[in-house]
Amino acid sequence: MIKVSPSILSADFANLESEMKRLETAGAHWAHVDVMDGHFVPNISIGAPVVKAISKVSDLPLDVHLMISDPDFYLDDFIKAGSHIITIHEECSSDVGKVLARIREAGVKCALSIKPNTPVSALEKYIDILDMVLIMTVEPGFGGQKFIDFCFPKIAEARALIDARNPKCLLEIDGGVTCDNVAAAKAAGANVIVAGSSVFGAEDMKRAIEILGE
Ligand code: DX5
Ligand code: ZN
Repeated sequence: MIKVSPSILSADFANLESEMKRLETAGAHWAHVDVMDGHFVPNISIGAPVVKAISKVSDLPLDVHLMISDPDFYLDDFIKAGSHIITIHEECSSDVGKVLARIREAGVKCALSIKPNTPVSALEKYIDILDMVLIMTVEPGFGGQKFIDFCFPKIAEARALIDARNPKCLLEIDGGVTCDNVAAAKAAGANVIVAGSSVFGAEDMKRAIEILGE
């Protein structure tokens, strides 16, 4: 089954409670929360207090994507805030194995992401303990960018690695996913679809989520 995890980076930040309700009504499976520190990526978005606030007003599992340099330092805040799954980046400056172990020990699902120019082989060391792999299909930092086509073979490569080593591991893609390119991404093996602008910018949000998740 495909899961759709709309990115609230494209939501109306002045009305997050009603935006979360709108996602629930439209059939989203999770809500993807993009955390940016202005250092790992050239943009600043939201932090743990906002994750905590939305976890109180919504039952949607929160898929928290940490685009931050030092997830080890901030991890407890995101665990306590009610994250369901926490993704860190292989390229971050913390000890990746240690942070993944800390996420698991806290009873939260753990995921590892790679940026477009990081090879899938960088995941091999950690694949056995991951609940999810996130293949970035744009350079992280901003919503509304165009899907980078050279990421398609990376999705297929990650699918092969998962099938061989940890078949229960989910495979998420994030960045530039639309109702037009999603079928190819699913055919390559993705089963969790993040989409920001194509969900919040859709005329019919429910229909967009149906297409992304079918
Ligand atoms: C990019 C973020 C994405 C982004 C997706 O750094 O990780 O989650 O918000 O937005 P769209 O779907 O608009 O590319
Ligand atoms: Zn994201």
